[in-house]
Amino acid sequence: MAKAVTRPAPLSIVVLAAGEGKRMRSALPKVLQPLAGRPLLQHVIDTARTLAPSAIHVVYGHGGERVRAALPDAPVSWTLQEQQLGTGHALLQAMPQIPDDHRVLVLYGDVPLLGHDTLRQLIDLAGTDAVGLLTARFADPAGYGRIVRNARGLVQKIVEHKDASTRQLALRECNTGVLVGPARRLRGWLARLTSANRQGEYYLTDVIASAVKDQVPVHALLTAEPAEATGVNDRAQLAELENLCRLRSTRELLLAGVTLADPARVDVRGTLTHGQDVFIDVNVIFEGRVALGDRVHIGAGCLVRDSEIGADTQVHPHCLIEGALIGPDCRIGPFARVRPAATLAPEVHIGNFVEVKNAQLGAGSKANHLAYVGDAEVGSRVNIGAGTIIANYDGAAKHRTTIGDDVHTGSNSVLVAPIIVGAGATIAAGSTVTREVPGGKLTIARAQQTTIEGWQRPVKPAK
Ligand code: UD1
Ligand code: CA
Repeated sequence: MAKAVTRPAPLSIVVLAAGEGKRMRSALPKVLQPLAGRPLLQHVIDTARTLAPSAIHVVYGHGGERVRAALPDAPVSWTLQEQQLGTGHALLQAMPQIPDDHRVLVLYGDVPLLGHDTLRQLIDLAGTDAVGLLTARFADPAGYGRIVRNARGLVQKIVEHKDASTRQLALRECNTGVLVGPARRLRGWLARLTSANRQGEYYLTDVIASAVKDQVPVHALLTAEPAEATGVNDRAQLAELENLCRLRSTRELLLAGVTLADPARVDVRGTLTHGQDVFIDVNVIFEGRVALGDRVHIGAGCLVRDSEIGADTQVHPHCLIEGALIGPDCRIGPFARVRPAATLAPEVHIGNFVEVKNAQLGAGSKANHLAYVGDAEVGSRVNIGAGTIIANYDGAAKHRTTIGDDVHTGSNSVLVAPIIVGAGATIAAGSTVTREVPGGKLTIARAQQTTIEGWQRPVKPAK
């Protein structure tokens, strides 16, 4: 590998992502199908970036603007392949933007889990002038191109599954789709491609035979971890990779000190950061960015999305928490829904069938049963009684409610916003309050209870 020591040629990466992905049977373009919470194409671009190339070109086509719109901030240059005439034709679309002295690394938008180290190894193996080809032995090679070697073991060509003879189908070494080669050479080989094959496509894989013909060395790197080179053509393969992602992320969590009741039943679709001695029960899903403090306990069946949960907080089973900032020592659930812009100070209790949205609750406040707290500023040590509803919406606009410290609202009270409840106020059970509630007093706003003496129930006339 003496070549790697000489100054390497600049690297351009081309990601092929124009295909429709018929086998997914989906209206969503294949490269946008989510894996571990990110589109397939996002995985490939993120890995490409770790190689610090001069440029990343993404060839897109099927689903066109939808693909670009899904990744608006990607630091890539987009190249349109108007008709999907094959992988060779796809690469050809990007070539005018790549200088002759660059090396070109081709990645497929539907091979999402290739790692930085494998790619780096392949690039170094190819050096400046040779071609590098990443191959793999898959348990099930169906659908993959097969690597044909000569008697001396040198790579001769790639045959696509659909074009392969029975003997070639028995070959176990497969093309992962990843290759690297000198731009000037690739340009020449691409110009020679024909579509004389079973699929009538311009196959990128045919450049290998051209390289051999031109006596450019082809170095194949057999990946040690075929799972990372698995392509996603159908939902069965997508599920397989999702499983693999799950195993990877849960293993990382376990090794980082998190207790998982069952590593097979936790999904991290995004990034999860955590403190020490966190416990996560079964069937919990994390999405987006979630941060858990020390000793946080997440009960079974919770979904937590884009939220922060402070140290020692216990989330009981079956809660839905999204876009929330939950302080330390809180108790949430079971069956609570904490929605975006909910901010809970320390020691807040949110109990069963309570919904909190766009509301701040001060330290030690409690809403333990069957309540709705929306668009509200709630002080400290407030007790929101069972069945309390903040009526924040008049059918057109949302209005705010301010509740001072130490307020108690009785069971089944309705606070019609906009409204202010003074500190220390008590609202009697069953009250509907529509005007300011003074602090430190009892306010009752309900019909008087009366008893009618001598009243008699109507009776049906005898037949
Ligand atoms: C391809 C390889 C095969 C390899 C396999 C690895 C070819 C001819 N075959 O087969 O040898 O074993 O990948 O996963 O290259 N694409 C375009 N434009 C097109 C066609 C495809 O951009 O006109 C993109 C697709 O979006 C996809 C990638 O290229 O990301 C591969 O295309 P796909 O049709 O899935 O090729 P395979 O049949 O899987
Ligand atoms: Ca594929």
